[in-house]
Amino acid sequence: MQISVIPGDGIGPEVIAEALKVLRALDQRFALGASVTQVDLGAEAYLRDGAILPAAAIDTLAHSDAILLGALGDPRVTPGILERGIIVALRTRFRQPVNVRPCKTRPGIPSPLRDVGPTGCDFVIVRENTEGLYVGTGTSAHTGQQTAVAVHTSITTMTATETAVRYAFTLARQRRRHLTLCHKTNILLDAGQLWMQAIERISTQFPDVDVDYAHVDAMCLHLLQRPQRYDVIVTDNLFGDILSDLGAGIQGGLGTAASANLNLDGSAPSMFEPVHGSAPDIAGTGTANPAAAILSVAMMLENLGHADAAAACDAAVNNALQQVNTSGTAAFTRELGDAVVAEIG
Ligand code: IPM
Ligand code: MN
Repeated sequence: MQISVIPGDGIGPEVIAEALKVLRALDQRFALGASVTQVDLGAEAYLRDGAILPAAAIDTLAHSDAILLGALGDPRVTPGILERGIIVALRTRFRQPVNVRPCKTRPGIPSPLRDVGPTGCDFVIVRENTEGLYVGTGTSAHTGQQTAVAVHTSITTMTATETAVRYAFTLARQRRRHLTLCHKTNILLDAGQLWMQAIERISTQFPDVDVDYAHVDAMCLHLLQRPQRYDVIVTDNLFGDILSDLGAGIQGGLGTAASANLNLDGSAPSMFEPVHGSAPDIAGTGTANPAAAILSVAMMLENLGHADAAAACDAAVNNALQQVNTSGTAAFTRELGDAVVAEIG
């Protein structure tokens, strides 16, 4: 199996180095036959070559079985160029309409919420990944004047919406059989209707899954008050982006938040990445938590059909998190990676 790795910017290369150590250990124990190709994309390559996403990089990525991405974004580059030009471009180009973001408390990482007890919380956000306000680049007119206008169009198609909804129902069926649609149907009437129709249509195939609905603003409140009431949440791209940082906060921080951008038709690779960004403020300090990148490896292996290796990786992270202090100011990135490797044996 051929894995393309984009270490990227900021803390990306640091957390990816640990994730690759863990992948090598899993490769040895489970005979995965993983071969890794590094793809040089991000701020350095862009500032050096002037190209954001060269054809050769796309070709390498397209011919791999999966992509592991560290983080992109750099203060030297105008916001959006790398984020849109690489991350959003790859999600679109490789037809990854579903972004799966588990929110789960882990040992050694307390939730900041007082009422999230020892059993913690465990829910999954299924974010539509290619549409909504993420489509298109927007338009500006009269820039710099009092009459300045900025326009962004949000697009919602039944095809992508149904794909995300069907995936979410299938996932709920494997879990606690509870699905929540999150939208803003009282204001975004047209897109909201379409999401509701997708839920109605697909729900007939899943009579065993309970469905409910929450407006996105109310959900921000409910998630803080009682995250345990949620199992699978399916939502629009931008709502999913925002809710997944809230979810990461509830589970104890971005340090353990992993994600999977899934291509479901086998026409292109899926892409796995920590939810955190490039965090330039802590790059080089050794205090970036590599758990999210390592757990993204677990999601990747699960998706590639190596459920045993994925489960071993997940369990090793839980054990390592209990051994290594990830909350202080002392460097721990490498120490946590080493502890995970030792747990894998
Ligand atoms: C995320 C990130 C990205 C997004 C950015 C970096 C393009 O915030 O994966 O949540 O907005 O989707
Ligand atoms: Mn985000």
